[in-house]
Amino acid sequence: MDPDLKSGGLARYAGDMIRRPAFFSLLVLVVLAVPSTGRSAPVDFAHEIAPVIRQYCADCHLGEKKKGRLSLNTRALWLEGSENGAVFELGKGAKSLLVELLHSSDPDVRMPPKGDRVPPEKIALLQRWIDDGAPWEPGFTFGKEGWEPPLAPRAVTLPPVVEGRQNAVDRLLDAWRSEHQVPRPAVVDDAAYFRRVSLDLLGLLPDPAEVDAFVAEAGTDKRTRLIDRLLARDESYADHWLSFWNDLLRNDYAGTGYIDGGRKQITGWLYAGLLTNRPYDRFVREWIAPGPEAEGFINGIQWRGSVNASQVREIQFSQNISQVFLGINMKCASCHDSFIDRWKLDEAYGLAAIYASSPLEIHRCDKGTGKMAEAAWIFPELGKVDPAAPREKRLAHLAALMTHPGNGRFTRTLVNRLWHRLMGRGIVHPVDAMHTRPWNEPLLDYLASDFAEHAYDVKHTLKLIVSSVAYQSEWARDEDPNAGSDGYVFRGPVARRLTAEQFMDAIWSLTGTAPQKADAVVAKPAPAGVVVEGPVARWIWSYPEGSSPVPKPGETITLRRSLTLDEAPFRAWAVVTCDNEYSLFVNGGKVGGDADWGSVETLPITLRKGPNEILLVAKNAGNSPNPAAVWCQIVIHSASEILAVGTDADWQWSALLPDARGKFAKAPDDWKPAAVVARQDFLPTRLDQAFRDGLANAVAPPRPVRASLVKSNLLTRALGRPNREQVVTVRPEELTTLEAIDLSNGDYLSGLIAQGAAKLVAEDSGKPAELGTLVYRRLLSRLPLAGESEAIAALLGKTPDARAVEDLLWAVIMLPEFHYGR
Ligand code: HEC
Ligand code: HEC
Repeated sequence: MDPDLKSGGLARYAGDMIRRPAFFSLLVLVVLAVPSTGRSAPVDFAHEIAPVIRQYCADCHLGEKKKGRLSLNTRALWLEGSENGAVFELGKGAKSLLVELLHSSDPDVRMPPKGDRVPPEKIALLQRWIDDGAPWEPGFTFGKEGWEPPLAPRAVTLPPVVEGRQNAVDRLLDAWRSEHQVPRPAVVDDAAYFRRVSLDLLGLLPDPAEVDAFVAEAGTDKRTRLIDRLLARDESYADHWLSFWNDLLRNDYAGTGYIDGGRKQITGWLYAGLLTNRPYDRFVREWIAPGPEAEGFINGIQWRGSVNASQVREIQFSQNISQVFLGINMKCASCHDSFIDRWKLDEAYGLAAIYASSPLEIHRCDKGTGKMAEAAWIFPELGKVDPAAPREKRLAHLAALMTHPGNGRFTRTLVNRLWHRLMGRGIVHPVDAMHTRPWNEPLLDYLASDFAEHAYDVKHTLKLIVSSVAYQSEWARDEDPNAGSDGYVFRGPVARRLTAEQFMDAIWSLTGTAPQKADAVVAKPAPAGVVVEGPVARWIWSYPEGSSPVPKPGETITLRRSLTLDEAPFRAWAVVTCDNEYSLFVNGGKVGGDADWGSVETLPITLRKGPNEILLVAKNAGNSPNPAAVWCQIVIHSASEILAVGTDADWQWSALLPDARGKFAKAPDDWKPAAVVARQDFLPTRLDQAFRDGLANAVAPPRPVRASLVKSNLLTRALGRPNREQVVTVRPEELTTLEAIDLSNGDYLSGLIAQGAAKLVAEDSGKPAELGTLVYRRLLSRLPLAGESEAIAALLGKTPDARAVEDLLWAVIMLPEFHYGR
């Protein structure tokens, strides 16, 4: 870069600082204005703070006692302070009056005024706890038990329409605002709205040309029409929401348990359900009482070695279904009766016993009690699970009770999660503390009942919320992340940082660097407008019909085809189904499999130059007297051609089977030619369509891979993508030091940006103004302001080189506006 230019504002900022990693990460911290959190494990309020307060302060500050008008019963009361006002400031433990009084030896002010002093290490804990923002166990009180949430759904009568705001959310909020005398925030402009709603519904930044068209569009209902257009993009919708459900159901593509069989993915099945917007109640019934493709969720993780009694699979089941579907913290009740709500150890074990396949002993704090758990559902007013019924029946019964129309807790929990995702804060907050009071009960109840009335259609509720004026409002500021919903004042949606996946998709799309191949195995819908020739594959099996011996029910065989290629294809797909079960192996690695003959999978595979070996292990049903039949068509794209290879008489079979990784203990030497099935017409129309979709997909130009379908890496983990060994319902909002450093000088991101810059320079005519405009429009959905244009011009010079463009990209990517929107 021309050294003279370095005196300019943005040029200086980008050119000088970005090259210096340490200095720059400091800059990022300042720019994003977030505290560093490079500290050890957070203080455990329940086990480290609560006991100290009980022991040393109870006589004068808990329950009905409030000496000096200071009650320590709830977090809100701690914050209120004493007759003299606040006794500490969040984040400033060392400087607080409270800590000072605990250390003081002045008999007039010391706390407690008499009796044992609080030991220094416990004061240090309290101090750290204040530094951490005084996190509290949601709903916990030292005083009398508070509120018990209703179970039944409640019909809410909507208040009258004010100033034409028809949306039910707005009608409820208008009434709430006038009652609480809270002003209505201003509404954001069209471009900012488009960017926000596109990220929320599809996870993608909008295309600048679409934003222009939308801004120019006439009509008062144009935002509603935009929502409909976005929600109709099924594939992008599924790509985006997959992350939400993966976090919740702790489903991933790699990690603990996936290799050794201690854990099973539900990706293909989940994705298919998102594509078709499967109703939530049906989804949940299939999660709780699953077929083989969905059982990964309830089976949880088989941890290696011996684990605490509260971590066995049965208890994971109890904890996870309670947390995910009901917002109940059974974790606290799986060691001892809960101190924060009404759940008891026996109830945690009752749910666990529904899942258990053998008798389960109740453990208290990891010690056996000698008492056996009896299968039981936790809301008997809705019905009971018969403990004597076989396991499958018990699970089916539980699935029905969970999704029972009388279970308002079930619908409230989900709509509250959706509200949180779209508005940045739950109506009940935190979202897993559904036993605590919502800040707006009619709103929560209305959304929940409306959701059930609309057949548990998630897209319906999303649309209801994002079309409200409330959602379209400017961000509210100054939220305390540890505050609960009780007493919360809604001043507008809370700004949310881009998720790891949104960030990656934005960067990949701008720089054209998305990976070639997804890690998640999902069947994508056929791209519009791609027409395919009829399938070339044929159903094949082992014996010609009428031959003997007749195959035994459950027959399992291996079918094989070797395939020699002149060049390495840049992509290849296998479209497969089987009567009844198959596993597909390519070059000694398992690619996929399925046990449902009524479904077809489209599996990306990797083929190489030279010989390739395709193995299909096929199994017929336990009761069918016909051989196992398979149908598989492989579509191969290479630079020079598109090649289709299907199952046919060129395939061979053997009764010897490979192991789970596709390796034979002893290579078969008895390969025999496969037989083409005489009847080829047993394809139901639905399957035929799936084949055509699969093939259309395989021949269509590749669509960019989305971050949700790729394994996590250092950067996405730093940006908050969880490892999914635990249920995660809310990702951390605060940016940590680690994230800032990864953003600013991680090799991976630098590499992408360098590639993107080189590409932009090569593609562009080289006019700096155009480059700046392009980057601003793509990343921020707006044009640079006058001052920014000047800085860009100074930074890029007359004929920008790749390095200057790289600096520009960095500067924009580091803007809070990029991360938070407007
Ligand atoms: C035996 C009664 C007693 C116990 C036990 C006690 N306090 Fe107090 N506390 C008081 C009284 C009385 C006041 C009112 C101020 C005063 O008279 O000194 C007070 C006031 C306070 C104040 C407010 C001071 C101010 O200037 O506004 C704080 C903070 C406080 N206590 C913290 C604690 C903590 C923390 C504990 C437990 C570790 C504790 N106290 C235990 C009696 C007690
Ligand atoms: C892994 C086991 C385990 C889990 C999970 C657990 N606890 Fe505990 N908890 C204990 C043990 C052990 C004790 C002390 C022994 C006892 O209960 O008598 C205890 C005691 C407590 C106490 C009493 C402290 C006092 O003396 O006032 C509270 C409050 C508490 N736990 C809250 C919670 C909450 C809230 C959760 C969920 C966030 C939770 N516990 C989860 C093991 C656990």
